[in-house]
Amino acid sequence: MNIIDEKQIHPNLRVPWKSKEDKFVPDFDKQFDESEIRKFELKVKNYELENPISEKIKEIPHIKLDLPEIDYIKSWDEVQTIDMNTYSQVNLRNYKETKEKGPLLHPHWYSKTLINYTPDSQACQGKQAKEEAAWAYPEYQPYASKIVDGVSRLNSEDMKFYETEVYSSVPTITKFIKKYICDTTYRMHIWKIKDNGYLNWHNHARLPWHNDVIVNDKAIVHLPLYTDFKVNMLVRKNGTIYGEHYSPGTAWVFNYIYDHAVDNPTDVFRCHVVFYVPLTDKKFTKLLERSI
Ligand SMILES: [Fe+2]
Repeated sequence: MNIIDEKQIHPNLRVPWKSKEDKFVPDFDKQFDESEIRKFELKVKNYELENPISEKIKEIPHIKLDLPEIDYIKSWDEVQTIDMNTYSQVNLRNYKETKEKGPLLHPHWYSKTLINYTPDSQACQGKQAKEEAAWAYPEYQPYASKIVDGVSRLNSEDMKFYETEVYSSVPTITKFIKKYICDTTYRMHIWKIKDNGYLNWHNHARLPWHNDVIVNDKAIVHLPLYTDFKVNMLVRKNGTIYGEHYSPGTAWVFNYIYDHAVDNPTDVFRCHVVFYVPLTDKKFTKLLERSI
């Protein structure tokens, strides 16, 4: 892990306040309801007392998983059988805003979904994907659709998950995950970040568009397949930026509780398979314990 000098990264990622000026993060200054936040923080504390691994891993910027090397060349060949034109550009507007004003698409960030809230890889790519699934596809989300209007935010446990039409295209990846990493996953995506692209600073614990604080009850695992050694995964913790290049064949847990970003200053796009694993998965928590 490297400490990164801000002068070395993309100009839009150099200073935290720069994110506020970035038109692709629209509601950055939205005020939060402090009493609601205190309530969620108490929930988080109780969860962590019952699940100590949650608190341990949320302080670590990058965790390299103790695994054999995945056959990333074969994996990458499989990913390339999926038509790039069918990838979704990430939409930064929520479902209701999108209906009113149309999507606000991230300029550098594309995804193809392998496990989704519907069996369709192209559905639900917005920032309120869970809510969109519950509103637009109640047949696939019978429970979430019943509660969606009464809660501030749906949890992953409220959702059902489906293998999409492209899941079977990448058997080397999915078999590796099942054999070595975990028995269950939530959503799983192929994420591409364009050449000279970046993903701006954000965190999933206190999103600029939500007034809640989330429990660290899952991990985000990255399997890099195609990248350049100059591509950096960045986590900003207490003012310090911790950078790590994730090389093909390795597997990592990327911290999403602290602000994180991706910097791709190269002439190639970067492709990772990324998936969420609940911390209740025993195979996964064993792997985490031996990796930290
Ligand atoms: Fe993120």
